[in-house]
Amino acid sequence: MNDFDLDTIRISLHILAASVWIGGQIVLAALVPALREIGGDAPRQAANRFGRVAWPFFALAVVTGIWNLLEIDVGDRSTAYHVTLAVKLLVVAAAGTASAVHSLTSSPAIRGITGAVGLVGSLAALVFGVMLVFG
Ligand code: HEM
Repeated sequence: MNDFDLDTIRISLHILAASVWIGGQIVLAALVPALREIGGDAPRQAANRFGRVAWPFFALAVVTGIWNLLEIDVGDRSTAYHVTLAVKLLVVAAAGTASAVHSLTSSPAIRGITGAVGLVGSLAALVFGVMLVFG
């Protein structure tokens, strides 16, 4: 059997953070029509509750991502790796910014656009993360 060590914990936490942040967005989006049918404050309350869970996990993705960078010898990696990493960090920043605007704006149009950018950007960060690991 392979070792259970700090690397196991680091990578498991990074994947857990990505799962909650992205999976939560997908599940909440699927629930929104039902919440709208319930009406009243239901969609807003669910979104607030989700935010209380999702943002700490976004922070966990950033912290464990920095931990990843400290563990791998970034200077030793190929130019392709550096480019993939730079693009990944850009989409993480774009997704985080869009999601923050999404939760703060009162304009339905801006909420729609930033919600989509937040989800698509986060999915792109996941794919670039996998590309970092598997080349
Ligand atoms: C929305 C935020 C993020 C998502 C969804 C995400 C997702 C992923 C996934 C799925 C992987 C592949 C599995 C793994 O080895 O962990 C990965 C790898 C990686 N991520 Fe992230 N990540 C995010 C944020 C970050 C941030 C902010 C950083 C850096 C500050 C980062 C740095 C890395 C690195 C360096 C790897 C490769 C680890 C290795 O080579 O072993 N990630 N990411």
